[in-house]
Amino acid sequence: EEGLLERDRYNGTVPVHRLPQSIIIGARKCGTRALIEFLELHPQINSPTDEMHFFSNDTNYKMGLDWYRKKMPLSYPDQITIEKTPRYFISKISPSRVHRMNSSVKLIAILRHPTTRVISDYTQICANKMAKNETAEAFEYLALNRQTGHINPEYRAIKISMYHLHIARWLELFPLKQLHIVDGDNLIVNPLEEIRKVETFLNLPHRISKDSLYFNNTRGFYCMRKTKNGPEKCLGANKGRKHANISEKIIHKLDKFFKPHNERLFKLIKRRFRWR
Ligand code: A3P
Repeated sequence: EEGLLERDRYNGTVPVHRLPQSIIIGARKCGTRALIEFLELHPQINSPTDEMHFFSNDTNYKMGLDWYRKKMPLSYPDQITIEKTPRYFISKISPSRVHRMNSSVKLIAILRHPTTRVISDYTQICANKMAKNETAEAFEYLALNRQTGHINPEYRAIKISMYHLHIARWLELFPLKQLHIVDGDNLIVNPLEEIRKVETFLNLPHRISKDSLYFNNTRGFYCMRKTKNGPEKCLGANKGRKHANISEKIIHKLDKFFKPHNERLFKLIKRRFRWR
């Protein structure tokens, strides 16, 4: 808070709540939390701590834009407000609502190998339910059609990884240049590279450097050396979990299932990911 006062005195501007100029729309389990927390390190980026679920939830949406705006952190004119709600990615109503708020909003999506995302999603759902049955059999029961043995495209975790279905809805309303896609697999191993691309996309100077992050051997992930309001920080234990043990056979089946879907995505976004 003292920092804010310092700046107020310095240039006479008062921080206000602003609607986000950029939104991280998902997808869930692709590294959305790491992305927003790393971006928060930038002095010109501000974000609310919680997921807003504004555009995707009718009850929230009915509260109106002013309600939404007031939930945003205080910011200065040279700062960009970003919120992340992975739900927006799959929500059918969100693209038009976001467009109505600001048709030139900068959209950020983060994607990861579709099969890895499915398994991460399944692992998370089991953890939420405190399920003890996080077994290969339980997964196959959900992921496969019992009659045919084929992949079940209606299983929610699989549906989300059919990225083109969801991206297509956003690109019906927003030009491709307004959508930046972060490589979630690369964010894990080379976060700085991905963060710099986002800084460029947002027209911000590069202020997140290799001093901002360090590789934490115990966690096996990158952590933040210090945050805006505190000392060093890793993401919570629910990020970077050990995945459920899924057989090679079904992983291969999923990979094969996703191949044509990935191709449709690459065509839509005019970019390829080197997914196996
Ligand atoms: P896993 O838990 O499956 O490994 P989200 O925040 O969208 O739910 O995504 C969670 C995923 O972020 C984790 O999935 C993890 O792989 C990934 N991730 C990327 N960078 C990370 C980091 N620095 N620390 C922890 N998890 C990170």
